Amino acid sequence: MIKPLRGMRDLAFEDAKKFEYFIDTATNIAKKYGYEYLETPILEESALFKRSVGESSDIVNKEMYQFIDKGGNDVCLRPEGTAGVVRFFISNKLDRQDGKYKFLYYGPMFRYERPQKGRFREFHQFGCESFGEESVYEDYTIIELISKIFDELNIAYSLEINSLGCSECMPKYKEKLVEFLEDIKDELCEDCQRRIKTNPIRVLDCKNQNCKTALSNAPKITDNLCSSCHSDFEKLKELLENSGIEFSVNKNLVRGLDYYNKSAFEFISSNLGAQNAIAGGGRYDKLVEFLGGKPTAAVGFAIGVERVLELLELPEQKREGYYFGAMSKEGVDKVVKVAKDIRKDNRAFVEFEPKKLKAHLKSADRQNSRYCCIVGEDELKNDTIWVKDLEEKREFIVSSDEFVKNI
Ligand code: HAM
Repeated sequence: MIKPLRGMRDLAFEDAKKFEYFIDTATNIAKKYGYEYLETPILEESALFKRSVGESSDIVNKEMYQFIDKGGNDVCLRPEGTAGVVRFFISNKLDRQDGKYKFLYYGPMFRYERPQKGRFREFHQFGCESFGEESVYEDYTIIELISKIFDELNIAYSLEINSLGCSECMPKYKEKLVEFLEDIKDELCEDCQRRIKTNPIRVLDCKNQNCKTALSNAPKITDNLCSSCHSDFEKLKELLENSGIEFSVNKNLVRGLDYYNKSAFEFISSNLGAQNAIAGGGRYDKLVEFLGGKPTAAVGFAIGVERVLELLELPEQKREGYYFGAMSKEGVDKVVKVAKDIRKDNRAFVEFEPKKLKAHLKSADRQNSRYCCIVGEDELKNDTIWVKDLEEKREFIVSSDEFVKNI
């Protein structure tokens, strides 16, 4: 028997319904904030992610589904959505328009991680990317948007924020941090010892308990921000406080992708176990330029759809649409014809196999149809349809003409 690959799964039935419901809700809210739908390819040049997410990140270093295609191109399945949107933004010369652009997207992402609860090798993200807006009000607005989505879906979360500084204060902070890390090097895990050279700030969010203890006195970026980053971070906190969105500052929040500066944030659920981040994002003002475009401020986020589905309860499913069935072969021709007219505005399911009334009622109920519409011997003779409203538990007989006209 052929099964899905490890860390990959089919999305069907209840989960598929939840998926549609989540995407519809999130899309509607994001559109109210001015975001428009964008679809970018799932396969991209590997270099795009090496340059944006970062060569030293785990995502690029260990987790890419990378291969050489038949034309000799070094390609990979996208591990995240931001880089592709930025590539689109630059290749369509939107960076030269001096405008403000907002895109929403959703779809599958691929990371060759060790699968566990809430962590898959193929998973879905819903994301938004805003270009051309450098005001910290936009950082706030994007956090407000995410909180609206979770509130609408009744999903509880806690929000953690941090500032990663800018090209003025971050390098100075890094120097300070490296000096500190060199002093405590022997107490750090092997990965962190390597990161001192490749990406020192990633040491701050190491999950190893020895590293955490050794790092308790490490200098913090938020204590080393330049005046512009400091005042933006203070403003962000003020805006969140005034809007009633609860948050905490996590001074060790650095995110696993290299492109961030200034605001970084994560939404966490306490109902998921170890893989508890349900959304993450932040500002990435240097990325457009870094990938060859004109300098453009940018900020965005992505929600992990599978983790949200785990927390999501579907609203009660109302009975909907029409179930058609016949009790004889001749009746089937008739219900097929009526269903065709009904489908102009309604959902209709037709059972082609003649069955007894009781069996039809059972199937209609299983399908969650509102009306069970049956053609038996009498109905065929009189050109009528027997209907049961499964919601109001009411039965009636109507002529076929009336039925189509008055539906
Ligand atoms: P990220 O934090 O790597 O950020 O991923 C965002 C979310 O995707 C995570 O919070 C998590 O819910 C979900 N996720 C990540 N990996 C997995 C996995 N293996 N299995 C299931 N869910 C997963 C980004 O990808 C950035 N592109 C977000 C962003 C957009 N920043 C700015 N714009």
